[in-house]
Amino acid sequence: MKAVILAGGTGTRLRPLTTYLNKHMLPVGKYPMIVYAIRKLKEAGITDIELVTGRSSAGLFTQYLGSGRDEGVSLTYRIQEEAGGIAEALKLAEPFVGASGKFIMLLGDNLYEDSLAPHIEAYRGQAAGAMVLLKQVPDPHRYGVPRFSQDGKAIESIDEKPQQPASDYCVTGIYMYDAAVFSYIDEIKPSGRGELEITDVNNAYASRGLLRYRTLNGWWTDAGTFESLHEAAGRLKEESE
Ligand code: DAU
Repeated sequence: MKAVILAGGTGTRLRPLTTYLNKHMLPVGKYPMIVYAIRKLKEAGITDIELVTGRSSAGLFTQYLGSGRDEGVSLTYRIQEEAGGIAEALKLAEPFVGASGKFIMLLGDNLYEDSLAPHIEAYRGQAAGAMVLLKQVPDPHRYGVPRFSQDGKAIESIDEKPQQPASDYCVTGIYMYDAAVFSYIDEIKPSGRGELEITDVNNAYASRGLLRYRTLNGWWTDAGTFESLHEAAGRLKEESE
């Protein structure tokens, strides 16, 4: 299976740290944030990885990570000219994913304890569609929030940053898709904030009854704010020593 890591965007919530430095190159413990996403994939046996980032940051990533050799992976790079949304960034990886079928996409600012291996294994066994990983959180309004079916077995839809969350779960930045994802991206329109939203793509799967989920057991955080960046650094301190 191949993997796509998104490491673009503007990192506005981490300014001024991100004025000149891409969020995913900020230090978390001993390593730049991006290293943890790569190691999670490597540990789950995935070494064929494409990294999508912005034009002004690409040099930092190639300088630090190069071909991926030092991390034991094979890296290719793709440039997102403007931060037009997660789904827009993912679409750029279509030639890399090709017809190879199922793949995993990670948002590079998500840090977590769980191994990806059992989740990937479960997705391999899924006949069709997509899978998202959920986490119970105290502040679901900051994220994509699932609405479950009455028996709790399926996701009926996802609301992006809802004022009144339908559950206390969030959709984490760990997504598994089949190649149909690219035609769903072609069908969606920019949201109110002018971005192609990954939530709209996930809803395209959900409306066809093709969106499965699993839940993370260990700690999880996105490192998109100062608070969550500090939390992540504290959690990963041991790993870094
Ligand atoms: O962290 C999980 C959340 O991530 C989900 O619950 C939400 O449904 C999803 O929309 C997303 O929300 P955020 O508002 O936190 O997304 P953000 O704009 O911070 O971008 C997340 C990652 O995607 C980050 O690593 C940068 C990358 N990205 C983002 C955009 C908008 C790109 O590579 N290109 C982009 O254009």
